[in-house]
Amino acid sequence: MNGDDTRELLREIDNYVEDLFAPSDEVLEAALRDSRRAGLPEINVSPNEGKLLQLLVEISGARRILEIGTLGGYSAIHFARALPDDGALTSLEIDEHHAKVARNNVERAGLSDIVEIRVGDAHELLATIAEDDEGPFDLIFIDADKESYPEYLDWSMRLSRPGSLILGDNAIREGSVIDPDDSSARAMREFNGRLAKDPRLSGIVLPLIRERIDGLAIARVL
Ligand code: SAH
Ligand code: DHB
Ligand code: MG
Repeated sequence: MNGDDTRELLREIDNYVEDLFAPSDEVLEAALRDSRRAGLPEINVSPNEGKLLQLLVEISGARRILEIGTLGGYSAIHFARALPDDGALTSLEIDEHHAKVARNNVERAGLSDIVEIRVGDAHELLATIAEDDEGPFDLIFIDADKESYPEYLDWSMRLSRPGSLILGDNAIREGSVIDPDDSSARAMREFNGRLAKDPRLSGIVLPLIRERIDGLAIARVL
């Protein structure tokens, strides 16, 4: 099979799984549509990855989630839907315009009570969250600027407890992590390596199919 055929097959498999396990609905469609209309980049998690995130929340019993990188709130809606009524998601976003679109999407989804979007540079917001002793979070989803993943992992260790999950999106990036030739791929390789070697963590990187091949890093704090 040549490369194009392989890509086509991967897409068909992704669609097959999506039709079975992650069918869309009006709220999710509206969130994607409004995000697109507002000019946001289409780099949200895929429907299948969204479903995987929900399962991880449910399996772990997470009640307090921290997300780094909100975009238009597509992943946030998935997380919030998996949380119990008294659960809470705090999502950090540097771009005021992204945050505004996300707040609208979350509001339409009826999830405003459990989702709080904070605007600012995650580096600063995380420092404040730590200073204010807002941790520990049961699940932390890292999905912002890729160069900062190693630093976000440091914050995640500080803001978690034994049993917490630390997740990192885009952990494969079409395989660029295998032989990195730019700073974001290098940072992602460092992130994956630290997840693997840190004795306080037990983890895996799960390759995922989308338009391109990417992956989700999943680690449990021991
Ligand atoms: N989790 C979202 C996608 C996030 S895309 C979803 O799946 O639906 C990455 C987001 O991180 C973008 O909105 C970008 O503006 C934001 N971002 C980039 N650098 C950041 C930083 N330093 N602090 C906070 N957010 C940042
Ligand atoms: C891309 C995808 C992402 O999930 C992300 O967070 C950033 C970039 C991309 O496909 O370029
Ligand atoms: Mg991502």
